[in-house]
Amino acid sequence: MKPVIALTKGRLEKQFLQFFQYLDFEAEPLLDKGRKLQIETEQFSFFFAKGVDVTTYVENGIADLGVVGGDTLIEHKPDVYNLFPLPFGQCRMALATKADYSWPDRKNRIASTFTNITKDYFREKGESVDIIRLEGSVELAPILGLADAIVDIVETGTTLKENGLVIQDEFLSFSARLIANRSSLKVKRDQLVPVIERFKEGAKQR
Ligand code: PRP
Repeated sequence: MKPVIALTKGRLEKQFLQFFQYLDFEAEPLLDKGRKLQIETEQFSFFFAKGVDVTTYVENGIADLGVVGGDTLIEHKPDVYNLFPLPFGQCRMALATKADYSWPDRKNRIASTFTNITKDYFREKGESVDIIRLEGSVELAPILGLADAIVDIVETGTTLKENGLVIQDEFLSFSARLIANRSSLKVKRDQLVPVIERFKEGAKQR
C-alpha cells in the first residue's frame, strides 16, 4: 500500500505543492484537483482536511504522514511524531486590538480559535481574562464588540491591517511541520524513511 499523506487545506496546501514540486515528486494530479478531497499520485495517496482534523487522522493511523501548522500542534498536542519544520507556513501568534483601544484594568474578553494557547499566555502573565472561542474571522470580534482583543495567527499582517487592528504583542513563531503516525513509522519504516529523508533534505535547502 502507498504511504497516505494528510494535507491541511487552503494556504498550506498551496505552499506544500510548491515544495513537493521542488522536491521533484510527481505532482500532476494535485495541480488541478478541483473540489476532490482525495488524490492519488503514483507514489502517494493524499487527502485534504482542516489542520486539526489532519492531526486526528494521523493520530489514528488513517494517514501515515501529515502536513500541519505548528500552531495546531501547540494548541491541540496530538499524540504523533512531530518530525521537523517545513520551509513554508511561517506565522506568529499575536495579541491584537483595535487601533484606538487602550488596555483597561478590568477583566478583558479575548476572542480566539486558539483557546489553550491564549489561556497559557495569560496564565504566564498572571492576568485573568475571559476567553471566547471563535472558529474563524476572529478579527471581527473587537470590531463588533464581542471581545476587547484577539489572539490569532499572523502571516503577512494584511488581515489585521485591512480591518483596522494593531498588534499589541507577539509571542510564538512557527511554520508548517511534518508529522507521522507512531506505529506507521515502525511498520512502514522502509517505505516512509526515504520519503521523510527527502523532505528533510529539501527543507534544509530551502
Ligand atoms: C488566518 C488567521 C488570520 C489570517 C492572517 O485566517 O486567522 O485571519 O490568516 O493572515 P495574514 O496575516 O496573512 O493576513 P485564515 O485565512 O486561515 O482563515 P480563518 O479566518 O477562517 O481562520
